[in-house]
Amino acid sequence: MMKLALLGFGVVGKGVYDEVQKRSDMEVSKVLVRRHIEEIAPIATADIAEIVNDPAIDIVAEVMGGLHPAYEYICAALNAGKHVVTANKAVISAYYGELTELARKNGVALRCTAAVGGGIPWLVNLERCCRLDTVTEVGGIMNGTTNYIMDAMHAAPVAFDEILKKAQELGYAEADPSADIDGDDIRRKLTISANIAFGAQLSEEEIPMFGIRTVTDGDIAAFQSRGYVCKLIATAKRTEQGVAAWLEPTLVDAHALEAAVPQNYNLISFQSEYLGRQSYFGQGAGRYPTASNVVQDCLDIAEGKRAFYTDAAQLMTPDNSGVMHAYYVRTDKADAWLEAITAETLGDGVITKPVRVAQMLPWAKANLEMGNPLFIAAIR
Ligand SMILES: NC(=O)c1ccc[n+]([C@@H]2O[C@H](COP(=O)([O-])OP(=O)(O)OC[C@H]3O[C@@H](n4cnc5c(N)ncnc54)[C@H](OP(=O)(O)O)[C@@H]3O)[C@@H](O)[C@H]2O)c1
Repeated sequence: MMKLALLGFGVVGKGVYDEVQKRSDMEVSKVLVRRHIEEIAPIATADIAEIVNDPAIDIVAEVMGGLHPAYEYICAALNAGKHVVTANKAVISAYYGELTELARKNGVALRCTAAVGGGIPWLVNLERCCRLDTVTEVGGIMNGTTNYIMDAMHAAPVAFDEILKKAQELGYAEADPSADIDGDDIRRKLTISANIAFGAQLSEEEIPMFGIRTVTDGDIAAFQSRGYVCKLIATAKRTEQGVAAWLEPTLVDAHALEAAVPQNYNLISFQSEYLGRQSYFGQGAGRYPTASNVVQDCLDIAEGKRAFYTDAAQLMTPDNSGVMHAYYVRTDKADAWLEAITAETLGDGVITKPVRVAQMLPWAKANLEMGNPLFIAAIR
């Protein structure tokens, strides 16, 4: 009988508890909480030491979220010889090198399938592909909230703020939506995916991004007039320079697979040398989808599977200087650089000649920081 301790009893924690209750091969024997919850009162504790020092506990499932104290608790569990499963993309993205090394040193497993794609078995299959094939590219639509917003804006003319409010009412978007709409959540998932795909250790802060906060219904109408659909797409690929990684609104052909992704769904893909493209479509969040991947990781550990890490996770800095494409740019503060690369107009914006991602994303970021209204979208 595999004994689990849960750290946190929120959306995902309660989902894991419910799933485990149905099984006879594992049980939740302790739950770390910081307030009284009647349902789990007999097994609740507010003291992490009671969990890490309990020799009967095999797996610690961290479903609290945040960087601290999640990082310290995971380290304590690994050092105490416990396997760790987590759904926490923030902590895995920020401390991938340290945590995988600590797991290896202690001879225990560290698994995080639910951290990228919620209920989609993306990381397990990515890892599996890496066993005998060379993955050349990972990414796609990795955030349900932003896909819900973009999908709704294409279905009928609606202002961004109005549809964001509706997403919040439906529980798809947080009260503070910035991690979703500005890209940080996706960047963490891209970092973890790229690390596993390329045997890398990337720093999420080094991956340039542009979110959807400034998109207008006028932009969408202009895209649709050309047969384009705009999606927020993350990409990491092997290049001659090492690894390129970025995320930005992207115009795809209305017949492309990404264009058909509805509502709050995700579509995450990898490209590999033998297999070509393989895509995973599904619910990237939600209590039971996410909890199912946490429990699946526990079952994998019970079967002896150890970790996601490769033996050689090399520190790498993303280099986007070799990646070029055209962009849609809407700004009322066009400078000489933008004028020099402009090829034609589209709606309230312009279409550029092919530009290096390494130039456009820092330029767009600087303009936003100066308070210049701006929206950009890559053209595939
Ligand atoms: N929700 C999803 O669909 C989803 C999908 C994929 C991944 N994830 C990841 O799963 C993790 C959990 O997400 P969630 O949606 O379940 O969050 P949540 O509903 O906010 O639950 C977090 C729980 O952890 C508890 N907690 C936080 N800090 C704690 C501490 N220091 N000591 C004890 N308990 C603590 C909270 O307790 P209080 O109630 O006392 O605040 C809360 O019960 C996050 O890393 C998230 O990114 C979630």
